[in-house]
Amino acid sequence: MQRLNVSVSRRLLDAILASGEKESVSTKQLAQAVSELSRIFTKERDRLNVSYLDSSHLGAAYLQYFLPVNLAKIQRLLDEMPTPELDESFSVLDLGSGPGTGALGVLDWWQQQALQSPLSVTAVDGSKAALSQARQLWDRYCQAATVGAASLQTYEGDLERRVWLEQVQQRAPFDLIMLANCLNEIHADAKDSIEMRTGMVLEALSLLAPHGTMMIVEPALRETSRALLQVRDKLLQEKHCTIYSPCLHENGCPALVKPDDWCHEERAWEPPMIIQQIDNEVGFIKDALKFSYLLLRKDGKTIVDRQPNVYRVVSELRVMKGEKRAWLCNEQGRQEVGRQDRLASPDNEAFDHWHRGAIVQIEKIAHKERKGKVSTLGRIEGDGKAQLLRPV
Ligand SMILES: C[S@@+](CC[C@H](N)C(=O)[O-])C[C@H]1O[C@@H](n2cnc3c(N)ncnc32)[C@H](O)[C@@H]1O
Repeated sequence: MQRLNVSVSRRLLDAILASGEKESVSTKQLAQAVSELSRIFTKERDRLNVSYLDSSHLGAAYLQYFLPVNLAKIQRLLDEMPTPELDESFSVLDLGSGPGTGALGVLDWWQQQALQSPLSVTAVDGSKAALSQARQLWDRYCQAATVGAASLQTYEGDLERRVWLEQVQQRAPFDLIMLANCLNEIHADAKDSIEMRTGMVLEALSLLAPHGTMMIVEPALRETSRALLQVRDKLLQEKHCTIYSPCLHENGCPALVKPDDWCHEERAWEPPMIIQQIDNEVGFIKDALKFSYLLLRKDGKTIVDRQPNVYRVVSELRVMKGEKRAWLCNEQGRQEVGRQDRLASPDNEAFDHWHRGAIVQIEKIAHKERKGKVSTLGRIEGDGKAQLLRPV
């Protein structure tokens, strides 16, 4: 099976470029601002509490670089979530929308899917400047294309306070709620930040339609991914939602057992030219989309039927001398499984195509026993069937 590449649609790129043009910044200046923003998002995270999107040069960098990257991630997850069950309209809530990344991603996706129901998006963010950029981009996209009935409402609101709930409540229930790259910025200074963030997600879930999806995306950094996994565990304890994907179980996350572990996704993509130009200038390589995520539901739907022999691949496929290995996760926890090259066979050839995020099935995993000790490393044998159920 072929892995899918993603790129950002021409229509979206045109809208982004047209909005960026009025800033008249050179690629070099843009690259410097991208570097600075990247430092804020990674090493200098204490600077996140300043309103970086209100600054014109950082706002321009976000628009040209981070928005297309994040939007591509969101569109991959829109393709992954169950097809929305719609009555009158497709109603979406984009929390911490920034310049409308999720709103635009869903607008373009809805347009491509040719969904018949009118689209109504509500975007909430603490930055007025970001919301006005969202409005501008949305209008540009809608002008340029023969777009169906689509509307955007924006609300300036603080997600750490409950006022935003009152603002959007009259538009509930939502078929899709998105919280992209924002959870890690909320309650960042609170002692009980995981509790507070869980509370905020639970409030958002109260606005979700019974067959809707809540999408949470976070950066693929250890700190932000682990915090998302901690929120995941708390949400499951509260029993207000279940996981559609990526997890194939509702137990405590095994990536939290060791303090250095975390879990993230990696999806192939084709970076737009502007991203490649900035990468060349800055020395970054955005050759893959990396992120952590949760698709949550209230109706118990899951991405595949969960079975003890069905696993999610949660690492690279490591090529070693005479063997390939990968880490797998399901209700039994995380385990490392390998297949020796000499045991490659038609039954297990799919193993060579496994990759991070893929859902796989293995008929039988063998564990060697030496001096009464059973090896934790599992092995696929020559006659053991190994399948790739769902590539990403
Ligand atoms: C990294 S940006 C993500 C924007 C967009 N969702 C994306 O994925 O590209 C984080 C956004 O969260 C917003 N934000 C952070 N803390 C917030 C809060 N307490 N209330 C409302 N918005 C907040 C910021 O203004 C910013 O627009």
